[in-house]
Amino acid sequence: MILMEHIVREGHPALRKVAEVVTFPLSEADRKLAEDLMNYVQNSQNELICDQYGLRPGIGLAAPQVDKSKKIFALHITEENREPLSIIAINPKIVSHSVEKTYLSAGEGCLSVDRDVEGYVPRYARITIKAFDLEGKEYKKRLKGLAAIAFQHELDHLNGVMFYDHIDKKSPFKEIPGAIPFERD
Ligand code: NI
Repeated sequence: MILMEHIVREGHPALRKVAEVVTFPLSEADRKLAEDLMNYVQNSQNELICDQYGLRPGIGLAAPQVDKSKKIFALHITEENREPLSIIAINPKIVSHSVEKTYLSAGEGCLSVDRDVEGYVPRYARITIKAFDLEGKEYKKRLKGLAAIAFQHELDHLNGVMFYDHIDKKSPFKEIPGAIPFERD
């Protein structure tokens, strides 16, 4: 079980590496890693388990965040009035995206960052993605809103990119042309 002590924090070199492509059939270790990532995000959204193990709630977790250089992440998003999204993404990629951008109006956070970093992180408003599941089957999805933002955040982790790399250093709240802010409730 992944606990907070297993999650590496900013400054750790694992967060700045380009993760390795995963091969199929999955090794036992890779399968367990993928399942552990999913279990963390699901557990962290369960108040009881969260309290019991001192987890910080999160909607996504990528393998480099537990010091594993593999192109794997898990997303678990349950928003009111929206279909829940719960995916393990292996060797994920964005195949197309909207011109329109968006950003979380309250800024982004990360389980590997123990401080509030203020500023707008520009993201594509809508993306079409492809990724492989645990069985090595490729799937395709269209994502928008929080799901699209979170997917791009996690995909960045597989490329050694942190969310704050995208924030304008001089004026973090500078308007992003043509972007529609996304309010998280
Ligand atoms: Ni993160």
